[in-house]
Amino acid sequence: MLTTRVCEPALLEKDLAGRVYVVTGANSGVGRATAEQLARQGARVVAGCRRVDAGAAAFVGLGEVPGSVEVVELDLGRLDSVRVFAEAFAARADRLDGLVNNAGVMMCPEGRTADGFETQLGVNHLGHFLLTELLLDTLRASAPSRIVCVSSVLHVGTRKQVGEIDLDDPHFERRPYDKTLSYTQSKLANVLHAAELARRLGDSGVSAFSVHPGWVRTNLVQHTMPAWVQNVVMRPFSGLLGMISPEEGAQTSLHCLLDDDAPRHSGAYYSQHSLLYPRKEHRSGGWPMTSPNPNARDAELAARLYERSREWVGLASA
Ligand SMILES: NC(=O)c1ccc[n+]([C@@H]2O[C@H](COP(=O)([O-])OP(=O)(O)OC[C@H]3O[C@@H](n4cnc5c(N)ncnc54)[C@H](OP(=O)(O)O)[C@@H]3O)[C@@H](O)[C@H]2O)c1
Repeated sequence: MLTTRVCEPALLEKDLAGRVYVVTGANSGVGRATAEQLARQGARVVAGCRRVDAGAAAFVGLGEVPGSVEVVELDLGRLDSVRVFAEAFAARADRLDGLVNNAGVMMCPEGRTADGFETQLGVNHLGHFLLTELLLDTLRASAPSRIVCVSSVLHVGTRKQVGEIDLDDPHFERRPYDKTLSYTQSKLANVLHAAELARRLGDSGVSAFSVHPGWVRTNLVQHTMPAWVQNVVMRPFSGLLGMISPEEGAQTSLHCLLDDDAPRHSGAYYSQHSLLYPRKEHRSGGWPMTSPNPNARDAELAARLYERSREWVGLASA
């Protein structure tokens, strides 16, 4: 039986008054649970949501909390929207204690973002990459501060193929689109993004982490099965198989944001338990743990991906 990792109770009682966080994809699932917990602890949360109405509706039930959640439009599939969000954030707040790059799509049909990127790489990695670059000065000025890149155990790959990034054909222009490979590629990009951020940020006081939130009961499955199959048919068995609630799924991100010791592990991968790891010894996860995928530990690949990502989102080499 897998044991779900949860934050030390004291972390979830820390007074976050005066602190400001950005959480993307905050109207649903893990992002919503993360935003709500931060607000309950007194933080001001700027919730980046693709659908502002869904964001507003999501937090109606939060009730009176010491902090606040402000919903601001953010479509990670449009670089212009990312830029507008960053400007809107700068107009609202002059500090940023934590950025949670949480939003994501999984195994969607072949598609392109507004800027022509393959959808999963575009939304899961490149939209977040530009957002992070645009918020980096504020994060530096607010140090100590933290960046959490929500990845997945699937960055490791599948039984058939280890997760990799094809820098020669990242957007599936020359090879047939494969929705699983595309998702694993985007989630490996999240792990490498955090690792390279940590290297570049050095002793700036800004730390970066990648996380696997666990197998969580959310809307993420919408392109692989109808949500009612997961939520009704599978519900009696899924708990036994290790599926967890969004609140439990938020624990790994919250630990990375709030644990005093975490900055010593900047760049590391933190994982909730998972049944999908290739070997049994990896299944209990770890806060932090070594990714079983050698590509996730490839510093040269991380550096090349960072440079290419800057080019793709229209930023000069850094
Ligand atoms: N659930 C799991 O078992 C699991 C496992 C491993 C990793 N993860 C990761 O956990 C993260 C959160 O997913 P979740 O499970 O909480 O799923 P979810 O409930 O579907 O939440 C995903 C969020 O991302 C948002 N989003 C999608 N496309 C976007 C875009 N173009 N711009 C801005 N926001 C966008 C969604 O907004 P809309 O509601 O408007 O679509 C939603 O708020 C993802 O990065 C996912 O890869 C989840």
